[in-house]
Amino acid sequence: MQKVVWTSLSVKYCLFLAAIFHFGTATAKEGMWLPPKLKEQEKEMKAQGLQIAIDRIYNEKGTGLNNAIVLFGKGCTGEIISPKGLILTNHHCGYGSAQALSSPEKDYFANGYWAKNHQEELPCKGLTVTFIRRIEDVTDRILTGIDDTLRDAVRDSIIKVRTTAVEAEIAKATGMDANIKPFFKGNQFWVAISETYRDIRFVGFPPNGIGAFGGDVENWMWPRHTGDFSIFRVYAGADNKPADYAPTNKPYDAPQYFNINISGYKEGDFTMVYGFPGTTNQYISSFALKHVYSIADPISIEARTRKLDVWTKYMTGSRDIFIKYTSKRAGVANGWKKWQGEVLGLKLNNATGKKQNYEKNFQKWADAQRTLPYAADLLPGMRAAAEGADKVVYEDQYIKEAVFGIELVQQGAAAERILSVMRLKIDARKMQDTLAKTIAAQEAFYKNYDPSTDRDVFKTLMTLYFNKCSETLPAYYIDAYKAHNQDIAAWADAIYKNSIFATVEQFKSWAATATQTDSARIANDPAFRLYDAVAQNRKQKILPALNTFTTNMRYMERLYMKAQMEKEKNKIFYPDANLTLRLTYGQIKGLDPDGPAKYSYQTTLGDAMALDDPNSEIFKVPAKLKELYNKKDYGRWGVNGTMPLAFIASNHTSGGNSGSPVLNAKGELIGTNFDRAYEGTMSDYYYDPARCRNISVDIRYTLFIIEKFGGAGWLIDEMNILKK
Ligand code: ARG
Ligand code: ASP
Repeated sequence: MQKVVWTSLSVKYCLFLAAIFHFGTATAKEGMWLPPKLKEQEKEMKAQGLQIAIDRIYNEKGTGLNNAIVLFGKGCTGEIISPKGLILTNHHCGYGSAQALSSPEKDYFANGYWAKNHQEELPCKGLTVTFIRRIEDVTDRILTGIDDTLRDAVRDSIIKVRTTAVEAEIAKATGMDANIKPFFKGNQFWVAISETYRDIRFVGFPPNGIGAFGGDVENWMWPRHTGDFSIFRVYAGADNKPADYAPTNKPYDAPQYFNINISGYKEGDFTMVYGFPGTTNQYISSFALKHVYSIADPISIEARTRKLDVWTKYMTGSRDIFIKYTSKRAGVANGWKKWQGEVLGLKLNNATGKKQNYEKNFQKWADAQRTLPYAADLLPGMRAAAEGADKVVYEDQYIKEAVFGIELVQQGAAAERILSVMRLKIDARKMQDTLAKTIAAQEAFYKNYDPSTDRDVFKTLMTLYFNKCSETLPAYYIDAYKAHNQDIAAWADAIYKNSIFATVEQFKSWAATATQTDSARIANDPAFRLYDAVAQNRKQKILPALNTFTTNMRYMERLYMKAQMEKEKNKIFYPDANLTLRLTYGQIKGLDPDGPAKYSYQTTLGDAMALDDPNSEIFKVPAKLKELYNKKDYGRWGVNGTMPLAFIASNHTSGGNSGSPVLNAKGELIGTNFDRAYEGTMSDYYYDPARCRNISVDIRYTLFIIEKFGGAGWLIDEMNILKK
């Protein structure tokens, strides 16, 4: 008797302990939350450590921290870090601006750039930043009276009319921009009321030896040693409102900016990332997911492996080609590596098995309920649609990655543009003018192009396409192949010798005397024919089925999303990322307990020094940084003789979160987000708290580089820096 009582007591005690334990080490949670819905997260965030009011993070009065965040350019995030509109973002987000401002005499990638005063802040043509002032639910205004099962073609046209009207009305009432986007696969609509500033200036940029340290080798990986940050400034007109560039514009008077905390953090500390994640797909079926990991990702990886092999070979052999292809290579390799991590992560996590279990449950519920008459048909419908589309999805992926992966084929699209100008019915003078402009626009392409490299890419990618899509090859391809004795290499050699578009010399010598009567010549050019043949083939044999599939799938996925939310009425769902402002929260956390490696949550400058390789383009530590390291000259940014560099945490981020502020429990800035760990790149489809980590530059490293390396302490004087 005694014993039994004791046992049941101890069980209760253990449960009690477990509850405390769980509470104390609150587990990371997936989710990218809409700021106006954060109140629903308040309890959990407070339990995990949040120390400020939700109202401080976002409110309708214009005094929230959302006013200190910008959509930077087309797909990054930046944060305001001083009352004078200073922006902190990633190095790789400022890369395009740096490239545009750089020249052989002013090579900002090699030497960095540090403005010494406002006059030295350089205007960046075309760069904009957007502040989100308010976000509102307009679902009722967009969807009222529209039946769920209305097909998307009709539904979309109604929605478009309403969206335009509501946006115009809100823009008029607020004097700001209004942009409505669909959420939860079109089951909700929210408007973002925003202001876009268009005079943005380049202020601070570390050289690649810091800002891109580790390059593609360390990309998507932890541990990491990249000082991936750069500094810009918002300029405004006399009224502090957006204005076109003018020398008389003034630094933006920022009503909200981030305080910076340099007292450090430890494992388990609460963190938040506030920014603009681009695209995620958390709620799709196992069938749609299968297209990702068994068709799209593997084909892209296969084609890009071949292309990168060729590029690397040529880039290693020639400095000129290296410079031409560096930026392109970074883009191609970024996706290539991410998808490999994604396929691996989905497999390690048995994401498909988990989705299938979920689907079994869903089906049981759907069969039993009566509220949504269509629910029971969704999974069987999506399954049939996905399986029926396997073949076209496969073919299309090879066309996109293998055929269009050849630069000369892409030039065929340019040829088509030139051809369409030639076919315009305009007078001769206007024709010559338009033609000259179209041709001139094309010349820029050759600046970063090497025909020998691309010819070898043609050989390997065309071989791949012939092997994998032999049943659907365009007739022109088969004929040309036969005409060259079924030798793809010989075919390639002939094309690159003959096409106007194959070399800059061939293009320029043609362009110098180009007239409208050349249209026959363009229409017969191999670059144009390669492009046109595959484009027509795609239009006839692939797109009809593919479009039917995507239209059907989109319809069913919208209803499936709605049904999932109906099934779990008490669960708080978060919408997939769509480049709107979101907040995610988690903890500073090493890659450990049941993850694949026992990595600490932090790296230091010493770790970067250990990788220093003077013979490597990407692992060469700049001399001045070495000097600072050797003298341990860290100023107020070091900690007991070490310099913190990067850290990881369990915040649920995605592409677009690059440059996002990483905040502590008080909403103070402790770092800048720039990447995710390899093991967790599948978080766009499936978030696993044991494996998914966001990677950030430690703010102390950023400040150290600005002050001690860049000698730009005047920027730090503008900031509000807190210790504790
Ligand atoms: N993987 C990061 C992102 O998706 C960083 C990319 C830039 N860095 C690089 N080594 N390519 O944007
Ligand atoms: N590196 C990504 C970006 O540029 C961030 C990520 O995918 O985690 O947005």
